Amino acid sequence: MKIAIIGTGYVGLVTGACFASKGHEVICVDVIEDKIKKINRGQSPIFEEGLDDMLSDLVSRNKLYATLNLEHAILKSDLVFICVGTPSKEEAKYDYTYLEQATKDVGLVLKDSDKYKVVVIKSTCTPGTTNDHLKPILEQTSGRKCGKDFGLGFNPEFLREGVAVYDFLNPDRIVIGGIDKKSISMIEAVFTDFNAPILKVDPTTAEMIKIASNSFLAMKISFINEMANIAEKIDCDIKDVAKGIGMDSRISPKFLGAGLGWGGSCFLKDISALYQLSKEISVPSKLLESTIQVNKLQPLRSIELLERALSDHSVKGKKIAILGLAFKPNTDDMREAVSIPIIHELLHKGAEVHAHDPVAIENAKLIFDSSNFYLHEGPEQTLSGAHGCIIVTEWRIYSKLSPRDFINKMKTPIVIDGRRMFNPKKMRSKGINYYGIGLGK
Ligand code: UDX
Repeated sequence: MKIAIIGTGYVGLVTGACFASKGHEVICVDVIEDKIKKINRGQSPIFEEGLDDMLSDLVSRNKLYATLNLEHAILKSDLVFICVGTPSKEEAKYDYTYLEQATKDVGLVLKDSDKYKVVVIKSTCTPGTTNDHLKPILEQTSGRKCGKDFGLGFNPEFLREGVAVYDFLNPDRIVIGGIDKKSISMIEAVFTDFNAPILKVDPTTAEMIKIASNSFLAMKISFINEMANIAEKIDCDIKDVAKGIGMDSRISPKFLGAGLGWGGSCFLKDISALYQLSKEISVPSKLLESTIQVNKLQPLRSIELLERALSDHSVKGKKIAILGLAFKPNTDDMREAVSIPIIHELLHKGAEVHAHDPVAIENAKLIFDSSNFYLHEGPEQTLSGAHGCIIVTEWRIYSKLSPRDFINKMKTPIVIDGRRMFNPKKMRSKGINYYGIGLGK
């Protein structure tokens, strides 16, 4: 099929490249010329594992190209996927500025096209948005009737940053929300070559599936983090507890990794929007509210443990090393990263903070401007002379640090392992004052 992709962020570009790799003809549209040029050279403007190789192959075989010309892309296509960002704004709502603009632009092109096309929304939005808000925009700008002159649907993405290509090509399920059978069958036609069950629903249900999935995953992590805090007090190890829980196939071991909390651009945005919706329609969700609350407190557990370990129980005037700034390993993304509240709280309490991250340093410079905050090129320099260390992101290079590295570099070898990377027995037997989230004495 011929597909137009509006927006070349990580969702749009991965969607376009993966469809093209399945034999479809894809035209990507963006408003940023540099991105267009890069894609047409076969290079990815963002880092996603495998995407560069895919793009250079697809561009050289003329299976995918990018353009600034939205009209050209839409007129040439059967399906138009809108993949622009819907960042969060105040009052826990999505900002639809780009989505509304893209929808209007698509509608204006549909005005001049007699060929039936299906518009597919991929941008995450509050349930009801495609049907109640975007459909009228498309009808007004095109002067045509949805369901008769063009089709419409919502097709959620469940892509993790960094492994989005893998996730797209190996989905657990494909959800197609269409306003009618014709829209659904045209969207289904691009997914024939995927080995996954397809769930066909209406757009509002598909939107709800997306936002509730992310909320559930966040709730699962908040749950295990609360269990970790209990486990710690009764001297058992949350890692064993999570293993035992996860062996129940009804629960599964995934997303039961206790730590300092969840971050990233999606979880907080989606769960907050769903909670806001629940309040607006007078069914305020206690679980969603608690999931957010638990996650606000969890990063600060690392400081509690650190203060407990320090001889005078205070971080004031102490040099504290932070290993890891990104919201998860293998990305430079610091959106909603738990390193942010931890560092702000340490600075507020009068600590001198020394931090390292293999790739997120440039982003960190934009966030912290305190004269008590220092960034370093390697973990060893970061640990040098520190009174305590908090491991915030589980980058693989940190697992290469030996107990001796901590002892030799630090003033007092107190390690708060926020991601449970190290073997507690080994660390403690070598003289490290080691604490871990969800770990007893
Ligand atoms: C998430 C969803 O997984 C994806 O389906 C959706 O489309 C976008 O949001 P992403 O934000 O890339 O993807 O990150 P993910 O790998 O899901 O991790 C989210 C956060 O949860 C990270 O901060 C991670 O460190 C944390 N996490 C994850 C845990 O604390 N414990 C776990 O067991 C798993």
